[in-house]
Amino acid sequence: MTAAPTRDATPLADPALLQQADRFIRAARYGAAHAVLAALRRRSPASGDVGQLTARLAMAEGRTADALAILDDAIAAEAARPALRLLRAEARMQAGDAVGAAVDAAEAVVLAPDDPVAKAILGLSLVDAGAHEDAIACLADAARSAPQMAAAWRGLAEALSRSGQQDAARNALEDGIAAAPGDLGLRQAAMMAAMRARDFVDCVRLGTEARATGLVDACVLGLLGHALSKLGRHDQAGDAYHGAFRLAPEDPYVRHLVAAAGLLPGEGRAPPEYLETVFDGYAGRFEDHLIGLGYRVPGLMREMLQEGMDAAGLGRVLDLGCGTGLAGLMVADLPMEHLAGVDISARMLEEARGKGIYADLAQGDITAWLGATQALWDTVIAADVLCYFGELEAVFHAIRPRMHRGGRLVFSVETMEDGATGWRLGSQGRYAHSPAYVEAALRAAGFAIERRRAETLRHEAGAEVQGLVIAARKVGADA
Ligand SMILES: C[S@@+](CC[C@H](N)C(=O)[O-])C[C@H]1O[C@@H](n2cnc3c(N)ncnc32)[C@H](O)[C@@H]1O
Repeated sequence: MTAAPTRDATPLADPALLQQADRFIRAARYGAAHAVLAALRRRSPASGDVGQLTARLAMAEGRTADALAILDDAIAAEAARPALRLLRAEARMQAGDAVGAAVDAAEAVVLAPDDPVAKAILGLSLVDAGAHEDAIACLADAARSAPQMAAAWRGLAEALSRSGQQDAARNALEDGIAAAPGDLGLRQAAMMAAMRARDFVDCVRLGTEARATGLVDACVLGLLGHALSKLGRHDQAGDAYHGAFRLAPEDPYVRHLVAAAGLLPGEGRAPPEYLETVFDGYAGRFEDHLIGLGYRVPGLMREMLQEGMDAAGLGRVLDLGCGTGLAGLMVADLPMEHLAGVDISARMLEEARGKGIYADLAQGDITAWLGATQALWDTVIAADVLCYFGELEAVFHAIRPRMHRGGRLVFSVETMEDGATGWRLGSQGRYAHSPAYVEAALRAAGFAIERRRAETLRHEAGAEVQGLVIAARKVGADA
């Protein structure tokens, strides 16, 4: 959800005290705000202004249900007050009720047709409700009437992007930056949009401008570093990553990028926060991009599955890290009982759902999800997914108990071509493995290797990405 614009309270009770409470809320001095509001309630128990501020305080403290109850009462007492409707629209958005939020915001627009904040909130609630064309109209109107309102530009860009108009979304962000140059969120969104479009040069321009204006946080510097490293400017990328790391040393996304640049030791796997951010942002153009890189893994998996398939077919099949369903699509016509997928990225799963080939799709981290499910599988596939793990032991150990005896695991890994042993995190944020390490980890987890083929998996930056496709069978007694 894009953050809603804020608006000032309209003082009706004691104006000085109302302003004081408002200031305390804005400064996150919630204890002081409670005290002032209690005093105001004693003096003007029925004031809509006091109700509005009390609800805002509840929202600021994360007590959305309390805020909604306060606003229901306030609106019942004063139905024609647009500010109350707008605040309830925001509270409903916070509560995930996009349709209810849109109803309130539309009511506020009827009550205050010239108020750009009302139009912006209506537009934002329509984005959440999936009504992108109407959202675009509202937000464009709001942004034109109040160009300094950064939330309107951000919402407009989000609506345009969700309706597939990526260039227009990037233009809206540029216009927003010109109109509201002090808004960090607009600059972050513009950099992310440039990264998604693989326009690394423009991402560097945006990051450099943000840095020049002093508007940076770990996200801006992390993205700047990522774009610079994509352009091969590794020293400058290192500087940007250092800056990001200084600002947010605990941020898992930043830590992974910094480790990928070789500036920190790599952890044993890519953090879930990193994976979700990257693949949610990548989902819309993933297939075009991978096909453009000559992505061969789904076809190679199909061959491997067919070669070892017995007369009963594949049985129950689980596609780990199913993404948009490219590998699933490639195997879905083989004889099987059931095809299920799991992925960490909600946006990738949306694309997979659209293919209509999976009986079940679940969102979760592979190892955590496998640890929580009771289901059993005959065939498990993992296409281009284990490259997000360095240490493979934990993944293989999580997969094995979820397989029927004799079940097959078919997966790909990227390999290190320089004779190094173990695993290594590369500058693109993925891991490569030595074949000996992969085989030892498989055997240690209770699998026997049936087939193993060295292949070119795809191309990247003009070079071939080498890897292995392996079919292994579960052996030994169940624990
Ligand atoms: C390169 S894509 C491959 C997608 C698909 N298997 C295919 O071949 O087209 C990697 C996918 O694995 C997912 N993924 C990576 N690590 C994961 C994890 N630890 N848990 C769940 N999903 C993960 C990503 O979200 C992404 O959708």
